[in-house]
Amino acid sequence: MPKFDIMIDMNEVALLISKDDVQKRVSELAQEISLQKIDVVIGALTGAFIFVSDLVRAMPSKELKIQFVKVNSYGKGTERSSFTIQGLESLDVKGKNVLVVDDIFDSGYTLKNLSNAVKELGAAQVKTCALLDKPSRREVRFDVDYIGFTVENVFIVGYGLDCADEYRSLPDICYIRQK
Ligand code: IMP
Ligand code: MG
Repeated sequence: MPKFDIMIDMNEVALLISKDDVQKRVSELAQEISLQKIDVVIGALTGAFIFVSDLVRAMPSKELKIQFVKVNSYGKGTERSSFTIQGLESLDVKGKNVLVVDDIFDSGYTLKNLSNAVKELGAAQVKTCALLDKPSRREVRFDVDYIGFTVENVFIVGYGLDCADEYRSLPDICYIRQK
């Protein structure tokens, strides 16, 4: 996770994408994704919890399994040792069509590593989805199948995304701007 090292008190939270625009885009994504058969949705905690909740409710299938894993990345290393996924052992993905969901596709490690881990567990197909894409920060080669919005290199908070665990409950997508 990128470090935001300017004191939060010297910054302000500014609107980037309104909650209405977010909801509209989430519905579109749900329709688009549902053209494929998806059996299991796997969300990456914590940031994706609100996005997953809205996305799955907008997907027509009510037989979807919804599971979460907790992804922790330490530093920027490419090695698996700097990246852990908690909860993989309880996933039920063997032979299933899986959609892996994260809040934001930034350096790219989280979705790439999580998607590879789910493939290694024997999923029949793994698709990926991120509500936000920050292409200017990419460090790995990986293509995400479904993207909600592309954003500039600003630090995003709200709609599940945090700064030091705060601001997740903001209904809009916002960014932190220096005052
Ligand atoms: P990646 O592995 O660098 O692609 O990072 C993805 C993870 O970093 C996301 O799951 C978020 O938790 C976190 N992250 C990346 N950019 C932001 C941001 O702008 N705001 C809040 N969290 C972020
Ligand atoms: Mg995250």
